[in-house]
Amino acid sequence: MIMNVGIDKMSFYSSDMYLDMVDLAHARNEDPNKYLIGIGQKKMAVIPKTQDVVTMAANACLKIIDDDDRNKIDLIIFGTETGIDNSKSAAIYLQNMLGLSRRGRAFEIKQACYGATAGLQMAKEYVENNPEKKALVIGADIARYGIDTPGEVTQGGGAVAMVISANPSIAEFEGTSTFYSDDVMDFWRPLYRTEAVVDGHYSNDVYVDFFKKTWDEYKQITGKNLEDFSAMTFHLPYVKMGIKALRAIIDEASEEHQDKLKTEFGFGKVYNENIGNLYTGSLYLNFLSLINNSDQLKVGDRIGLFSYGSGAQGEFFAMNLCKGFKNSELISQINADINNRKQVSVSEYETIFNDWVPIKDQELSFDTSKDASTFTLKGVKNHQRIYDRK
Ligand code: HMG
Repeated sequence: MIMNVGIDKMSFYSSDMYLDMVDLAHARNEDPNKYLIGIGQKKMAVIPKTQDVVTMAANACLKIIDDDDRNKIDLIIFGTETGIDNSKSAAIYLQNMLGLSRRGRAFEIKQACYGATAGLQMAKEYVENNPEKKALVIGADIARYGIDTPGEVTQGGGAVAMVISANPSIAEFEGTSTFYSDDVMDFWRPLYRTEAVVDGHYSNDVYVDFFKKTWDEYKQITGKNLEDFSAMTFHLPYVKMGIKALRAIIDEASEEHQDKLKTEFGFGKVYNENIGNLYTGSLYLNFLSLINNSDQLKVGDRIGLFSYGSGAQGEFFAMNLCKGFKNSELISQINADINNRKQVSVSEYETIFNDWVPIKDQELSFDTSKDASTFTLKGVKNHQRIYDRK
């Protein structure tokens, strides 16, 4: 049975600390405009060791999960490339922390930044076949390249949570998806490393190539063109990457429509330019920023979504906005969370960065008193992570 299925609820969490990109530019002897304009980033989330992908996802979910969700969610898919265990999935921890039904399937999924999209597409098909059920899809990551590396300015972290249901409030899938994958070494992270290895300029080229391939195929299959889209959203490892992708196709639209697409891109980038890359969650943060900040979008508008995960996998699909796409209470909460973060200096950021090491000890205790988030990582006991709820 095929129903209208899509995103019913959406939320976002990141740490309450940020680094200003002007400060970072000065510390690295770069012109601040390289970071602000050339890269397109203003601030970067700084993730303390009291947060990991599980706590960030749980903190994101707290803003949206209610008792109806607790009864109906029986599929939890956790997209991440910052896993905390080589065996047990982050989804199982999350299921318990949120008090979700145990009569469910909970697992983790990985293909670089594409993981949440894989989860979303699986959830779509599951709910289409089981419209009385709901699914929870997470994209949560911490992007780390290393201090004083070219990738440093494109770090960040956080979690996006999405509840997928029939007759959704926010946006419904339109159907056609086009995808493309190939064995490409543009970005990867061997098991023994906490920082990614990246061929940065090559990764930009592969990204645009995969976008054009999936976009061209989408147009061919559906007969639609750029004029049919009110806005385009992208996996945004950094804002300029999305600008490059939009530029690659913008000439296909009339001048008037080009202006509209650029304006909407401006609304969509607001959260990303203040948080940085959150890998699996970045496309969905861009989408959330667009619907929360745009004052021009209306019910029924078609939004394009391009997902990219290095290695590499690309996918393009479309969603149509539904009548509850603006949730003013959640918008105020998310905007307040972003605006009320505290600024850290470059040396404080470096200390926190170096402190966020893979946990190798079997007994550890963290001071969580400075982390105001509801869920925190308290430490490790007998090789087991100990989570806390305030
Ligand atoms: P870089 O080599 O330091 O920077 O690294 P650049 O020299 O190329 O400069 C960047 C831009 O700033 C250029 O503009 C310069 O002209 C401009 P562009 O040619 O790109 O349009 N610029 C200035 N603009 C204004 N005023 C100035 C000024 N100076 C220079 N004064 C790079 C940049 C992105 C390569 C690096 O940060 C990096 O390696 N980042 C990580 C990799 C990445 O994010 N790749 C994106 C595609 S792959 C992807 O999205 C997947 C990913 O999320 C991982 C996953 O899937 O899991 C990464």
